[in-house]
Amino acid sequence: MTKTYAIAIDGPAGAGKSTIAKALAAELGFRYVDTGAIYRTVAYFLDLLGVSPKDVDGVERYIDELTIGIEYDENGKQHMLMNGMDVSDEIRTQDISQKASLVSAHPVVREVLLDMQRDVARKNNVIMDGRDIGTVVLPKADVKIFLTASVEVRAKRRYDELIARGQKAQLAQIQKEIEQRDYQDTHRPIAPLKMAKDSIKLDTSELDVSGVLAEMKRIIGEKLPL
Ligand code: DC
Repeated sequence: MTKTYAIAIDGPAGAGKSTIAKALAAELGFRYVDTGAIYRTVAYFLDLLGVSPKDVDGVERYIDELTIGIEYDENGKQHMLMNGMDVSDEIRTQDISQKASLVSAHPVVREVLLDMQRDVARKNNVIMDGRDIGTVVLPKADVKIFLTASVEVRAKRRYDELIARGQKAQLAQIQKEIEQRDYQDTHRPIAPLKMAKDSIKLDTSELDVSGVLAEMKRIIGEKLPL
């Protein structure tokens, strides 16, 4: 089998991972894998069933009834299928963000999703973003980047994103929720959000999208023969 390349991008919510990864994937001809969307799909499924994301027994009982599909349309956009139903838009709410963070702490959930993520990377050149890609999912990734930004900047970005999508949002509330999610994602016992030892840290607080892209391309260019 021909060698595939993997670029792992980790970091907290709102650091710009998906915007940047999507643009880079289009430019490099790589597949973009948004792993947060997979956790969101699990959270949405359990939510529809009325199972609390903190309910260990409920999560373990119902996770087997979910079949997750990942499909890509002609524009390279990732679509999430929940038992065959496209839920790509439904999973993008603040409520599901919080629930995905709680659901992602369950070992059974992480185990099920691990193989799925590795399988995509085995077959494709990927840019995968998430929390544990460089540390757990793809520890041998060719390039690892840890994208971060101040919590204020991240909250403002998430706020702008929600408003652009026509959703209601309050900046202070979003910042509080991001802080809570940061705490949960960095303190869970399994695969917490942390920087891999061989990851390159990039703080995007003072950079716009084109600035981050230029810096990322420089880092990737030093590591990959593209
Ligand atoms: O990237 P996101 O905001 O869509 O992710 C939603 C939640 O999913 C995040 O708060 C924690 C969890 N997650 C995870 O645990 N591991 C990943 N690789 C990606 C997301």
